[in-house]
Amino acid sequence: MSDTPTPNDAVAAGGEPRLMDCPNWLYLLREFDSLYRHGSAGGSAAIRGHRKRVRDRLSSAMARNPEMTERASQAKPVTAHLPRALDLGERAAMQGMARALREVKDQLTWEYGYDRISKALSQKYAYCEILGPQGPVKCDSLILGFVLFAPNTTYPQHSHNEIEESYISVSGAWSENNAAVFAPGSLILNRSGDEHRITTGDRDPCLLAYAWTGPEARLAKPGMKLSSTRKSKLAP
Ligand SMILES: [Fe+2]
Repeated sequence: MSDTPTPNDAVAAGGEPRLMDCPNWLYLLREFDSLYRHGSAGGSAAIRGHRKRVRDRLSSAMARNPEMTERASQAKPVTAHLPRALDLGERAAMQGMARALREVKDQLTWEYGYDRISKALSQKYAYCEILGPQGPVKCDSLILGFVLFAPNTTYPQHSHNEIEESYISVSGAWSENNAAVFAPGSLILNRSGDEHRITTGDRDPCLLAYAWTGPEARLAKPGMKLSSTRKSKLAP
C-alpha cells in the first residue's frame, strides 16, 4: 500500500476526496503545468496558443481544488510495457514526468476507447486519463492523460472533431504520418480534423503525454474518426 493518501484513503477518513488530499496527483499535474508553461513554444503561434489554453485551463482547475472521481484501476496487455517505458523516461528529458507518473501507476485506469478494437491493436495500445470530465481529477474544460504503445506498433490514422490535441513524448521514439522521429520532450500539435497515424520504434515502448482542449460538450463526448469504417467513440 502507498504511504501517501489516495482518493480511497480520503473517503475512508470521512471526507470528500479533492486534489489537495492526493499529493501524488497534484505533483503529476504540476509536471504538466511546467511543461505547458516553460517548455519550448518552438516559434509557432499555433503551438503557443494551444499551450496557453492548456495551462490556463489547468491553472483554473487546480485553483478550484477539484474533486477526485473514484475510478477502478484497470490494466491492459500493453501495460506490461509500462515499467520499461517509465525506466526509459526517467533517464531522459522527461524524467520529472516519468517519476511523477510512477507514483500513481497502480491507480491508473487504462482504456481502449473504441467500441471494437482489433486483436492486434488491443495487445499494443491503451490510454489513461489523469484529468477530465471522467476524472480521476475532475475537470470539464480540459483532458490530460497518457497513451502507451508497445514496440513496433502502428496506431491507425484518425482525427478529432472540434478537439485540439498535443502529444509530448515521455519515452521512446515515434513518428507521426511517417514524418520525422520524435524524442522525449518533443511536442506535436494536431488541430481539429488533422489526420494522424503513429508508428513506434521496434525495440522499446513509447509513452506520450497528451492534452485535449475543445468545447466542454465535445470533451464530455469526444468522438473520433478513423480512416477505416470502424466505429469509435473516444481515444487520444
Ligand atoms: Fe490523436
